[in-house]
Amino acid sequence: MSTVRVLTGITTSGTPHLGNYVGAIRPAIAASRAAGVQSYYFLADYHALIKVGDPARVQRSTLEIAASWIACGLDPERVTFYRQSDIPEIPELTWFLTCVCGKGLLNRAHAYKAAVDKNNAAQVDPDADVTAGLFMYPVLMAADILMFNAHRVPVGRDQIQHIEMARDMASSFNHLYGEQLVLPEAVIEAQVATLPGLDGRKMSKSYDNTIPLFAPAAQMRRQIAAIVTDSRAPGEPKSTDGSALFQIYQAFASAEETAQLAQAYADGIAWGDAKQVLFERIDREIAPMRERYNDLIAHPQEVERLLLIGAEKARQLSVPFMRELRHAVGLRPLSSTSASGAAPSSAASDKTLDLSFKQYREADGRFYFKLVDASGQVWLQSLGFDNPRDAGQGIRRLQQEGSAALPDLQAQLQSADLAAVGQVLDAWRERIKLAAAQQAK
Ligand code: TRP
Repeated sequence: MSTVRVLTGITTSGTPHLGNYVGAIRPAIAASRAAGVQSYYFLADYHALIKVGDPARVQRSTLEIAASWIACGLDPERVTFYRQSDIPEIPELTWFLTCVCGKGLLNRAHAYKAAVDKNNAAQVDPDADVTAGLFMYPVLMAADILMFNAHRVPVGRDQIQHIEMARDMASSFNHLYGEQLVLPEAVIEAQVATLPGLDGRKMSKSYDNTIPLFAPAAQMRRQIAAIVTDSRAPGEPKSTDGSALFQIYQAFASAEETAQLAQAYADGIAWGDAKQVLFERIDREIAPMRERYNDLIAHPQEVERLLLIGAEKARQLSVPFMRELRHAVGLRPLSSTSASGAAPSSAASDKTLDLSFKQYREADGRFYFKLVDASGQVWLQSLGFDNPRDAGQGIRRLQQEGSAALPDLQAQLQSADLAAVGQVLDAWRERIKLAAAQQAK
């Protein structure tokens, strides 16, 4: 029973529309209910700052998107649902990755290249109006993903390159600092429909052809009435091929209902009637969720509360992981390196003076720690804990009490030569104390 970690982010720069619902929200929530999956969904509000300079818009969009996902059935108890800007470890990891990411890699990112191409075509400076934020976008996104050791990242096709770049950065980092980061994979849901918009092109904010997911029913009815159709009169048979109305219906209806509408097209249903059928079908699915949505929008403090709980859950992983990564890159207490001068006070060899605890989560969803030295030798390996706090508690006791904590913890440790481990631990602690004393002088 291996657990797969699935993670995806939603940029908080707009109001969710039916296309987002069918293409992302609905499939993601369905997937989050599967067994053996750990899901991480987050509001990418740092990413929003790259394209939105209006603070009220960023805040409003964050509320609307969070409320939409919850109203659509995302269970914050079951998944980890959080706001990117509540996790300060993400920008910290962004910097680590910045330092291993080739600038050339970023030069080749589609979004950046498109901006440069546009400037070149307009015969202005290639980087005119291009912020460093846009340029760095893929690094921040890689940090989002790598922070939680995600295996799979469901995204639209336009994002595949970003996942590949995240893999690149993870490999470079691992190459320098040892196997620390999991290489993620993009997941493209093949059977998920792209919804056409009011004008028949893909429903997208940039085409201004969207139907907001939780528009009031009357507005939704009016917008559906505005979907383009051909000019066939009532009674004339109609083609389902290329009919935006039909495609939207299909995304909501069962196979049987869809076949019925196809028959109605063949029988010459009037466009006005077909639109009424479509409105009713969508409203049947959306109306109950709309109530919950409106309630959440009216109580932003409730959404805030849920997001803060999510952040706390996320940080139970990001805080210890970042601590490990800081250590791995050399941002660590000066006393934890053998370079600090003093001689070892026991029989333990030099390499054991650079010990560190690593806390991590395994595929079985449980939390573990191990004690390793600079050469990678594992001195101690815990059994699985139900939560990261208990694992962290074990680490703290060993750090503070040394070998004295071993008898108590023995049952949670894999059999090892505990006497030898105790000796190494105590030598290490003494060494740290010595270094601290020297520093204090
Ligand atoms: N760039 C993604 C988009 O525009 C949003 C995003 C930010 C994201 N960070 C992520 C998606 C991490 C997946 C994983 O759709």
